[in-house]
Amino acid sequence: MYHEIDLEKIELKSEPPAKEPDRQYYFMAKCREWVREFEQKNGRSPLAFTQTFGCQMNARDSEKLTGILRKAGFVEAENEQADFVIYNTCTVRENANLKVYGHLGRLKHEKKQNPKMRIALCGCMMQEPEVVEKLKKSYRFVDLIFGTHNIFKFAELLAKTLESHEQIIDIWEGTEEIVEDLPALRKYPFKSGVNIMFGCNNFCSYCIVPYVRGRERSRKPEDILGEIKTLAEEGISEIMLLGQNVNSYGKTLKDPISFAELLRRVEEMEGIARIRFMTSHPKDLSPELIEVMKESRKICRHLHLPLQSGSTRILKAMNRKYTKEQYLELAERIRREIPDISLTTDIIVGFPGETEEDFLETLDVVQRVRYDNAYTFVYSKRTGTPAASMENQVPEAEVKSRFDRLLAVVQENARAQTARFADTVQEVLIEEVNEHDPSLLTGRMSNNLLVHFPGDPSLIGSIQKVRLESCKGFYYMGSLLPK
Ligand code: 5AD
Ligand code: SF4
Repeated sequence: MYHEIDLEKIELKSEPPAKEPDRQYYFMAKCREWVREFEQKNGRSPLAFTQTFGCQMNARDSEKLTGILRKAGFVEAENEQADFVIYNTCTVRENANLKVYGHLGRLKHEKKQNPKMRIALCGCMMQEPEVVEKLKKSYRFVDLIFGTHNIFKFAELLAKTLESHEQIIDIWEGTEEIVEDLPALRKYPFKSGVNIMFGCNNFCSYCIVPYVRGRERSRKPEDILGEIKTLAEEGISEIMLLGQNVNSYGKTLKDPISFAELLRRVEEMEGIARIRFMTSHPKDLSPELIEVMKESRKICRHLHLPLQSGSTRILKAMNRKYTKEQYLELAERIRREIPDISLTTDIIVGFPGETEEDFLETLDVVQRVRYDNAYTFVYSKRTGTPAASMENQVPEAEVKSRFDRLLAVVQENARAQTARFADTVQEVLIEEVNEHDPSLLTGRMSNNLLVHFPGDPSLIGSIQKVRLESCKGFYYMGSLLPK
C-alpha cells in the first residue's frame, strides 16, 4: 500500500518523479530530511499545528494534511506554539472568513516570539482573489498560500516552504485531477470520512462553494470501495461518505453509477457496521435511494436534507430547483417510508427580497416536517455570487428578529422529536469519555443523537446497546445493557 512506503528508500539525488502520487512521496522524503536536520540542531522534533475551519469536507482534507506532516516526521502540537502552523480555511459565510483573520492577528504575535515559525494557509478562502491580494499586501508573515485544487501537492509545497524565505503562493483555478493514495491521519480510530466526490455544479445563487471548490468530479467506485476496505481492515466501523451533493454522485463517470448503487456496494463490505453520508440536495434525491435506505441494515437513520427556504419564490431566486410543495412531499414520503429516521436541515434567513410572508412559509415547512434538528444561518453576502448583486437586501434588524423566531420553533421541534425515543433501547457507537464527567461515556445513536452513560473507557470504538432513560432536551442520559 502506498502510504506504507518507506521514505528512506526514496533516492533524493535523482529528479522528482512526474507521476502522482510518487512525486508527493518524493517530497515527503525531502521534508523528512529537513526534519532530521532540525532534530540535530534543536534536540527535538519540529511541532506542527493544524486548525480546521468549516465543514466535514475540510475536516477530511485536514486529516490528509496531518497525515503528510506526520509521515515527514513532524509531531502534532496542541496549539499555535509550534514550528509549523497551517489553517485550513472556510469562506461559506463572512463569519468564517473573519475568524481566520482573527487567528492570523494572534499568530503574527506568536511569530515575533518565534521568527523561525512557518505559517501556511489553504482551503476555500484562498480561492478568492481578493483574499490573496489582502494577504500579499498586509500579511507578509504568511509563508505559504495554496487552495483547494492543489491540496494534493501539499508535500511539495511544504518542502519548498521549508527551504525558502519568500512568500509562496500557488492557487489553481480548477482541476480535473483526483490524486489517490496519499497518507491521512485519522482523528478517530473507529470512524472516518471518505470523499466520494469533489466540487459542486449546483450554483445556488447565495453560495460560494462552486467557485472555490470547482466543478463536480466523482471518484471511481473501485477507488472508494478499495479505500473503505483498507479502513475496515484498520478497524474503522463507521464511515461517512462525503460530497457537496452526494445524490448526483457518479453521473459524470465514464461508467455512470448512481449513489444508491454505490451505497448497495458499500453495504456489502465486511467490517463496516454503519454508513452515513453528507450532503443531499432535495432535487436529486431518488426514490431508489429511499428504497436502499429502507432496506439497509447499515445506513444510519439520519438524513440531512437542506431546505434553505420554505418559500417557492425565494427558492427560485436561490436557484434551488424545487418548490415548497415538492420538498414537503419528499420529506413526508421519507418519514412515511422510514418512520424512525431523523431529519435535519439547513435554513437561511434574510435572503435578498425575503418578505414576512416568505419567512412564514419557512416557518410553516419547519412546523410540518418537525425537523429533529436544523442549522439556521443569517444570509451572508459572498462576493461573486449572483445573490450578492441582488437588490432588496433585508435590513439587519428584520433578519435578526426572524432568526430568533425561527430558532425558537426549531428548538421546540427538536426537543419534541428527541423525546420520542425515551425508554427505548438503542445501539450506540461509543465515541469518547464524557467531556464534563469522566465516569461517563458518550455514544452516538444511528439517528445521530448523543447519549451519556456510566461505562468503562475500554468500550470506546465499540457498538453497544444502551437504554435511554432520561431526555435532557437535545440528548439523553442512559445505561448500558449487559451483553
Ligand atoms: N449565507 C448564509 N448561509 C449560507 N450557506 C451557504 N451559503 C450561505 C450564505 N451565503 C449555508 C447553507 C448551506 C450551509 C452549509 O451553509 O444553508 O446548506
Ligand atoms: Fe466552508 Fe463550503 Fe469550503 Fe466547506 S466547502 S470549508 S463549508 S466554504
